[in-house]
Amino acid sequence: MSYHKDGFPNMPVHAQYINKQIKKHKFTVGAELGVRRGGFCISLLRDNRKLCMYAVDLWAPHADIDEHHFHEYHKETFYARAAYHGLQGRIGIMQELTTEAVHKFGDETLDFIFADATHTSEALRKDLEAWIPKVKKTGMISGHDYEEEWGMIPLIDSLGDVHVDEKSCSWHIMKKDLNEEWK
Ligand SMILES: C[S@@+](CC[C@H](N)C(=O)[O-])C[C@H]1O[C@@H](n2cnc3c(N)ncnc32)[C@H](O)[C@@H]1O
Repeated sequence: MSYHKDGFPNMPVHAQYINKQIKKHKFTVGAELGVRRGGFCISLLRDNRKLCMYAVDLWAPHADIDEHHFHEYHKETFYARAAYHGLQGRIGIMQELTTEAVHKFGDETLDFIFADATHTSEALRKDLEAWIPKVKKTGMISGHDYEEEWGMIPLIDSLGDVHVDEKSCSWHIMKKDLNEEWK
């Protein structure tokens, strides 16, 4: 990991790819599904002054979550970093399951989603089915870990002609380009 002169990590590579899309389309509101320490969310907010992000993570063990790590520690790290950079006013922190948080959004209200929660095809399908209706017609569906090892590639490919960043394994597709069954 590389560091900025202020001592904080530079924007991670998987966020740099999404950042290009945020700037290209002038997106102002997005949701990150699965946040952990918030490196993605915070670096994007620091680089895009008009951007607001919903940060959705349970930050706790749960049968639906396939990762076993220091959830509480990661939550506190995220909160501390957000506060240090004065970003609280532009982050909506939602400490709940992605499949529950989604009900708090109206249809077609988000410019983009970044799906990076539980890395199984079944969980990603649930997230995409629930969250795609919340994305504006002009918006973007994106995510991370387009890699064989997770078994999510066939599902991601079923969305349509998905763009993949080989360097970071981030992926995206505009909502207008989704295959009919996903629209
Ligand atoms: C891979 S990490 C996210 C990394 C982050 N997007 C980044 O780029 O730095 C996955 C996170 O998703 C959370 N998570 C997994 N499944 C979830 C679910 N169904 N609902 C809420 N949070 C979930 C975990 O607690 C974990 O913090």
